[in-house]
Amino acid sequence: AVGAVAVAGGVLHRHGDSVDVPKPKRVADRLRPGEAIAFRFPGDDDRAVGVRLKDGTLVGYSAVCTHLACAVLWREDRGSEGELYCPCHEGVFDARTGEVTAGPPPRPLPKVLLVEEIDGSVWAVATTRSGEGVKAAMCRQFGEQ
Ligand code: FES
Repeated sequence: AVGAVAVAGGVLHRHGDSVDVPKPKRVADRLRPGEAIAFRFPGDDDRAVGVRLKDGTLVGYSAVCTHLACAVLWREDRGSEGELYCPCHEGVFDARTGEVTAGPPPRPLPKVLLVEEIDGSVWAVATTRSGEGVKAAMCRQFGEQ
C-alpha cells in the first residue's frame, strides 16, 4: 500500500481538532479539474463531495449542510472556482475552504481529506468535525510535510 491509503482506522486528537481516520475508501478512478464526485464517507449514510479545483487542488467536504442538514450540491459555473450550494435555504460554501459565504449555515462544512494515488484514483481517508486543520493534523501524525 502507498502513502496515506495505508492508514489504519482510529481517531486522532490534535490541537483541538477531532479527526476521524476511518477505513480509506476509493471514491473515483480519476477526477479532472472542474469535476466533482458525490460519495458516502465515512459511513454509508454520510453524504460527501469531492472536487478537483481548476488549479488541480483536491478538496473534500461533508455534503450535509450545517444549517438543517439538506444535501449540498456542487455548482461548477459559479464564481471563479465554483461553489458548494444548499438549495434548501440558499446556503453557499466556498469551494476551496468550505467556509460559509452566503445564507444561514452557521458553520463551515466539515472536511473530508482526499488523497490521490499514483494511478490517479482518489481516496477519502479522514474527516474532521470542526472543518479546520485536517490536513495539517494528518501530516503531523504521519510525519509528512
Ligand atoms: Fe442548507 Fe438551510 S439546510 S441552507
